[in-house]
Amino acid sequence: MDEIYLQKVIEEWNDIADSDWYMSYRKDEVVQKILEEPESAFHRTTWEVIHTAFPDLKGRNILVPSSGDNRAVFAFAALGANVVSCDICEKQLQHAKEIADKNHLNIQFRVQNTMKLTDMESGKFDLVYTSEGVHVWISHLKEMYQNIARVLKGNGIYINYEIHPFSRPFAYDDGKPDGREVIIRKDYEMTGPFEEGTEYHWRLQDILNAICDSGLTLKRLEEMHDEKDKGHFWFYEEERKTMPKEEIEAYYDIEKNPLCGIPQWFTVCCVKELLGRNCKETIGERS
Ligand SMILES: C[S@@+](CC[C@H](N)C(=O)[O-])C[C@H]1O[C@@H](n2cnc3c(N)ncnc32)[C@H](O)[C@@H]1O
Repeated sequence: MDEIYLQKVIEEWNDIADSDWYMSYRKDEVVQKILEEPESAFHRTTWEVIHTAFPDLKGRNILVPSSGDNRAVFAFAALGANVVSCDICEKQLQHAKEIADKNHLNIQFRVQNTMKLTDMESGKFDLVYTSEGVHVWISHLKEMYQNIARVLKGNGIYINYEIHPFSRPFAYDDGKPDGREVIIRKDYEMTGPFEEGTEYHWRLQDILNAICDSGLTLKRLEEMHDEKDKGHFWFYEEERKTMPKEEIEAYYDIEKNPLCGIPQWFTVCCVKELLGRNCKETIGERS
């Protein structure tokens, strides 16, 4: 693994961790809303996928790699799960730990590289969940998924909520939908690295093939649009508070924002199938 690349990622996130943008996620009112209504921390479709797989999360072992703002971590903890939150940026974890301590949430925080998950026990977790801009920082997708598969229990589940790769090539010529001239800003096949060598624009096939190669079985793929009432794909959540209602609505109107016609997000649900056991069960049923 390229140590210089990882160091750059850590430095970038050390800066972002203290930014107004990330501090806005840590306001009391934001955290209280998650604790009172944990499902509100998820896109409705993603929540439906999680809830279908685990109608009750109480006592489940959940790992959230690249946990970032930790909103999903707080939600899982509020639902009674045993959560381990991992990130490569110690500052992100420190901020999240302060919130967890203040609200008496029982969460373990560990500095871990998502591609390695070195200190995470194999076969331990019922659910591994990653969300919102995790893959863009990952240079080795296969390694990441091999380790996610490793730490899952047999029949354990991996669920994600991620930026849809189709949203990467397209943009407006003046950066805003008002211009409405859609341009192709890059070839879909160009996966990077971009920026300072730290960002990757993986295609759907890169992510799904890495999942399948790791031994996880894809059970469900959902391609979703940003949610009009609480989405934050087109603008920061803080901006929503001061934006006129019509301006918000325009982002979700295909006539005014043609790019809202392609999916902005996707969710997968994958299982670590116990082939040996399932084979025996099948044989058992047949005999
Ligand atoms: C955009 S956030 C996504 C997570 C979260 N859902 C959020 O929205 O804040 C990206 C996070 O991934 C972390 N990260 C980047 N590369 C990582 C790696 N190799 N291992 C673990 N965490 C990593 C960053 O420190 C950051 O906290």
